[in-house]
Amino acid sequence: MKFKCLALINLLVLQYLAILGISKGFDFFYFVQQWPGSYCDSDKFSCCYPPTGKPAADFSIHGLWPNYINGSYPQNCDPNNPFNESEISDLISNMRMNWPSLACPSSSGESFWSHEWEKHGTCSESVLDQHSYFETALSLRQQTKILQSLTSAGINPDGGSYGMENIKDAIKEGTGYTPWIECNEDSSGNSQLYQVYLCLDSSGSNLIECPVFPQGECGSEIEFPTF
Ligand SMILES: *[C@@H]1O[C@H](CO)[C@@H](O)[C@H](O)[C@H]1NC(C)=O
Ligand SMILES: *[C@@H]1O[C@H](CO)[C@@H](O)[C@H](O)[C@H]1NC(C)=O
Repeated sequence: MKFKCLALINLLVLQYLAILGISKGFDFFYFVQQWPGSYCDSDKFSCCYPPTGKPAADFSIHGLWPNYINGSYPQNCDPNNPFNESEISDLISNMRMNWPSLACPSSSGESFWSHEWEKHGTCSESVLDQHSYFETALSLRQQTKILQSLTSAGINPDGGSYGMENIKDAIKEGTGYTPWIECNEDSSGNSQLYQVYLCLDSSGSNLIECPVFPQGECGSEIEFPTF
C-alpha cells in the first residue's frame, strides 16, 4: 500500500513537471551497436582500421542517441559544451576497444567520439554529463553482449544467411528486450546485419522496450558476414 502510494505520487509529480514543460528535452535513448564486418564489406563506406590494428570481431558501439517518441530527434544541442577528451581520460582504453572508428582515414576514435557527443550527447546533458554519457554506453555494451546472444542461438558471423525473426528472438532472449535491426548491403547487394538498436529510458539507467522503432525493413533472411 505504501509503495503504491509512493508510486502514485511519483507519477503525479512527473505529470506535473511534464505539464509545466520541465522536461529533459527528449523521451528515450537508442543505444546502437554495429557489426564491423558489415561496415567494412559494404560499398557505401570505405573502412580503415585504427592505428592500433584490426578491432575485435565483435559488435562495437555506434552511439547513444536521445530521441523523441514521435520518431524524430534533437541534435547539436549545446555548442558551448564541446567534446573534451581530458574529461574521459580514464575511459579511453575501454573506448578504443569497444567504440573504435572504422572510418577513413584511419583514426584512433577521437573524431568519432567528438561527433557522437556534439551531435547526440549534448542533447541529453541534463541527464548525463560527458563522462557519464560515455561510461553509460560502455556499460550497456558490456551488459548487452549481442554477439554472445546470437552465437548461443547458433547464429554465427560466418557469411551464412539467417532468419530475421531468429536473430531478434536470440537478442531478446539474451538481453530481455526486443531489438530493431538495421541492414545494409554487401558489395554483391545482399542484405546483411549491420546495426542493432536497443532502448534506454530517459534517465539513462534502464533498458526498456523501444517506444518507437526507426523506419525500414531488412527482409526475412539476412546475411551475417565474417569480420
Ligand atoms: C517531435 O517532438 C518534439 C518534442 O516534442 C518536437 O520538438 C518535434 O517538432 C516533433 N517532430 C515532429 C516531426 O512531429
Ligand atoms: C577539459 O576538461 C578538463 C578537466 O575537466 C578541464 O580542466 C579543462 O578546462 C577542459 N577544457 C576545456 C577546453 O573546456
